Amino acid sequence: MDFTEKEEGLVKESWEVLKKDLPLYSLHFFAQILEIAPAAKGMFSFSRDSEEIPQNNPKLKAHALKVFKMTCEAAIQLKEKGEVIVSETTLQYLGSVHLRNGVIDPHFEVVKEALLRTVKEGVGEKWSDEMGKAWTRAYDHLASAIKAEMK
Ligand code: HEM
Repeated sequence: MDFTEKEEGLVKESWEVLKKDLPLYSLHFFAQILEIAPAAKGMFSFSRDSEEIPQNNPKLKAHALKVFKMTCEAAIQLKEKGEVIVSETTLQYLGSVHLRNGVIDPHFEVVKEALLRTVKEGVGEKWSDEMGKAWTRAYDHLASAIKAEMK
């Protein structure tokens, strides 16, 4: 089924909420990743050597921002073009960074779950199953493009 205008709207609307407090939601997102998969702590340069989750770390924020923003862009493309288009160089870059850092396919499920929990936390009462499904669809398209490049 096509990605509807309504689904695109739900993603955009919740991204606007996350955008208002990226330091907070980046931290929440990373904390969720570690809650679901504690071993992921050793994968990220910014958490590897510290006991606690580093506050206000630019790399932690950069990664969260990329995941949120690229998923939102994927939603827009799905609605406009019916597919997710990421430039070949960007995909190659994303593929190589993740390969190099030991990321494997199941990790994408962990990050998806953390993303959904973060959106839910951010939007509060505005959360709905439909909103979750819209983020899921957009993320899955993006993740499979990255995963394909990692093969
Ligand atoms: C690095 C994006 C999923 C782990 C990066 C970078 C980008 C990126 C752009 C380069 C550095 C940066 O800008 O911070 C994405 C996107 C994802 C995704 C768009 C999903 C749609 C994942 C997953 C994992 C992961 C599933 C595994 C838990 C990492 C790690 C680095 C990295 C460990 C190196 C960062 C560092 O140590 O500083 N990612 N990523 N990413 N990503 Fe992802």
